[in-house]
Amino acid sequence: MHARANVTSVLSFSRSALLAAGVALAVLSGCDRGSTPSTGTTGSTGAAGDIVIGHYGSLTGAEATFGLSTDNGIRLAVEEINAAGGVNMGGKSHKIVLKSEDTEGKPEKAGTVVTKLITADKVAAVIGEVASSVTLAGAPVAQQFGVPMITPSSTNPQCTAVGDMIFRVCFIDPFQGYACAKFAASDLKVKQAAILFDQASAYSVGLKDEFEKNFTKLGGQIVAVEAYTKGESNFNPLLTKIRETGAELLFIPGYYTDVANIALQARKLGMTMPLLGGDGWDSSDLAKNGGAAIEGSFYSNHYASDQPTPEIQSFVRKYKEKFGGETPDGLAALGYDAARVLFDAMQRAGTTDGAKLRDAIASTKDFKGVTGTISINEKRDAVKPAVIVEMKGGKPVFRARVEP
Ligand code: PHE
Repeated sequence: MHARANVTSVLSFSRSALLAAGVALAVLSGCDRGSTPSTGTTGSTGAAGDIVIGHYGSLTGAEATFGLSTDNGIRLAVEEINAAGGVNMGGKSHKIVLKSEDTEGKPEKAGTVVTKLITADKVAAVIGEVASSVTLAGAPVAQQFGVPMITPSSTNPQCTAVGDMIFRVCFIDPFQGYACAKFAASDLKVKQAAILFDQASAYSVGLKDEFEKNFTKLGGQIVAVEAYTKGESNFNPLLTKIRETGAELLFIPGYYTDVANIALQARKLGMTMPLLGGDGWDSSDLAKNGGAAIEGSFYSNHYASDQPTPEIQSFVRKYKEKFGGETPDGLAALGYDAARVLFDAMQRAGTTDGAKLRDAIASTKDFKGVTGTISINEKRDAVKPAVIVEMKGGKPVFRARVEP
């Protein structure tokens, strides 16, 4: 049962990823730039000397807060650098112009919007996506065009393996899975855990595998692994099976809309164990939709807005000022960090030429971000600590920090 669920999930994921990549390639071969990376005109500064950058994200749909928060974080970074005169390249200042495109959280939209940003808007670089499955579909396009791309928040290892133009400023799921397993085993002292994961999501499949591996290594036992597909509405049959195992903890490596539904249905079934998840829970909608059902549950994340460091508190204050008192979530912080890493690389490169900008991003070292210190490693990933937050009074509250 368990092994079968694994195989099916991997197959169905790789098929959708291939389909999405196929769409992207079809779009590419149909346009006049051909398939050879050319950085000659892409990313050149505009008539007024402005530099255009792109963001693609889920601005609508079931994961809308992911894209909207990220966009806000990027906007704050753009506003700040422009207020300071812009990006300075070789003694000349250039204002940044941001173009944002909606993916609706769908992998099949990614190829089209990234192509548009590059060919029509002539962006120097692309920021996005949040969801790993969408990033996996968008990245091949940026790679083909030779335009650097930074995903602020996609944690599946495969995302940056797409090619040398693709970077991230967050940790990856082998570490996040370890962080969750360590917290479950050492802090919560859980011995038997169950898993409920989204078989259509690269992120969820990968994080499930890593949690299972690490929790078992730490002496725990996985007593059930059940699979759902994003957007499902009735989780009762899966939850009933899990209830029968007597698991002390339920690990749900999914996104917030599904997680809130699962929490509500689990509590209705009389399941009182703590729920644990990954960064995909990070949304103000989690508590809005999940209410009391989500209280006392935990998830791993990239930062906690209540951590008292000066970097975090200054960011929280500026963000609240700009966005009507809203507290920035991890996505907002990562969007802000991704944009600032990009501007820093542009200044060091002194040009928006794709290959040179790529080299400058690749050599990012000890960049002080809101989400931690960012150094890009040889796999174009960042290695950073994670935090575990607890849902208390409808808000994520800092609980623990896990070092890589
Ligand atoms: N890490 C998730 C993914 O790869 C996306 C995510 C990051 C969601 C941070 C919320 C917060 O799909």
